[in-house]
Amino acid sequence: MPVSFKNAFAGRRVLLTGHTGFKGSWLARWLLDIGADVTGYALDPDTEPSLFASLGLDHTMDSRIGDVRDAETLAALVVEVRPEVVLHLAAQPLVRRSYAEPLYTFETNIMGTVNLLEAVRTCGDTRVVVNVTTDKVYENPGTGDAFSEDDPLGGHDPYSASKAGSEIVTASYRRAFFSGGAGAAIASARAGNVIGGGDWAADRLVPDCARALSAGESVIVRNPGSVRPWQHVLEPLSGYLHLAASLLDDPGLAGAFNFGPDPSETATVGDVVARFVTAWGDGAWETPDLGVQPHEAEQLRLDIEKSRCVLGWFPVWDFEQAVGRTARWYHEYHRAREATDLVAEDIAAYWQAARDAAVPWARLEST
Ligand SMILES: NC(=O)c1ccc[n+]([C@@H]2O[C@H](COP(=O)([O-])OP(=O)(O)OC[C@H]3O[C@@H](n4cnc5c(N)ncnc54)[C@H](O)[C@@H]3O)[C@@H](O)[C@H]2O)c1
Repeated sequence: MPVSFKNAFAGRRVLLTGHTGFKGSWLARWLLDIGADVTGYALDPDTEPSLFASLGLDHTMDSRIGDVRDAETLAALVVEVRPEVVLHLAAQPLVRRSYAEPLYTFETNIMGTVNLLEAVRTCGDTRVVVNVTTDKVYENPGTGDAFSEDDPLGGHDPYSASKAGSEIVTASYRRAFFSGGAGAAIASARAGNVIGGGDWAADRLVPDCARALSAGESVIVRNPGSVRPWQHVLEPLSGYLHLAASLLDDPGLAGAFNFGPDPSETATVGDVVARFVTAWGDGAWETPDLGVQPHEAEQLRLDIEKSRCVLGWFPVWDFEQAVGRTARWYHEYHRAREATDLVAEDIAAYWQAARDAAVPWARLEST
């Protein structure tokens, strides 16, 4: 189905939760470029530096600082903004932190979703909600088979389980309150492991690489053999926009969608680090014995046929390009280039590559 992001979002009221985070900052920037009327709702950024601050989003968009666990404030915001589209990214997204803070993780990721959907239900003006979950929502028996959307939900660690819980909440609201064309079209988006410039989170592979190489140190790698569906941050973001635009056109599409790399692109943690170090130009990495570590799935793959066939969405940058663009971003930032310019350059390059690949949303888009 043909969609154009500018046609879909220019002048449209969009509520973006999690706008102060890594993916949220990129998405806020992209939506503002398209001409959307964006309000963000999230906690203050908790990294130093933060992409949100580097992009100056605190003074170039309607940014509200608040907690998704605070149902009253969130409901009041939804009544005030009356968003036509809601993109829900706010979450506690770190597996290792979820072991340290399970209660906070479950409250934020499950009750945060309930609070938002309840606010949307009672306000009644919203046409589309996209709840951003993750590839980790699937029960993972460790076979290495790619997960498709009708596979069972599950989750070993609290983060994965909390996101599977968020999925169940989303499906319940869709069936119980928004079925048969009543109210908003509610979908969920399950993306793979995201890389890209401007992520400064603790305990994440690419930020760890950038921090170590910038300091002239070796990168310490925990699980070099783990397989993940790596993708550049602009890939799932184009997926979320494509999904929301499609739902505005056809609310009957509401459901769950995977957004991952081409299944032929299987890469390990070690592959990412080796490629990153090569693209950086110099540096080294090592895998010391770190003792017993919290459980993380060894293999994770996503089947993206539904997004490809139903939406016409497909990934644009391959593994080499995704890691290469990411390493370039951090290297240039390290050499004192502005994050604003680097993000703009990546969005322009991604858009051009999507156009060259004849992705439907880019074919219809003008610069
Ligand atoms: N980064 C990845 O590889 C990846 C992969 C799949 C899915 N996701 C999902 O994408 C979304 C964004 O992830 P990210 O990588 O940008 O994470 P991030 O940590 O950079 O950003 C998280 C955002 O959520 C907000 N937030 C956290 N707790 C909150 C609370 N209690 N109330 C209000 N806001 C709160 C933060 O302030 C921040 O804006 C998350 O839902 C995450 O689960 C991320």
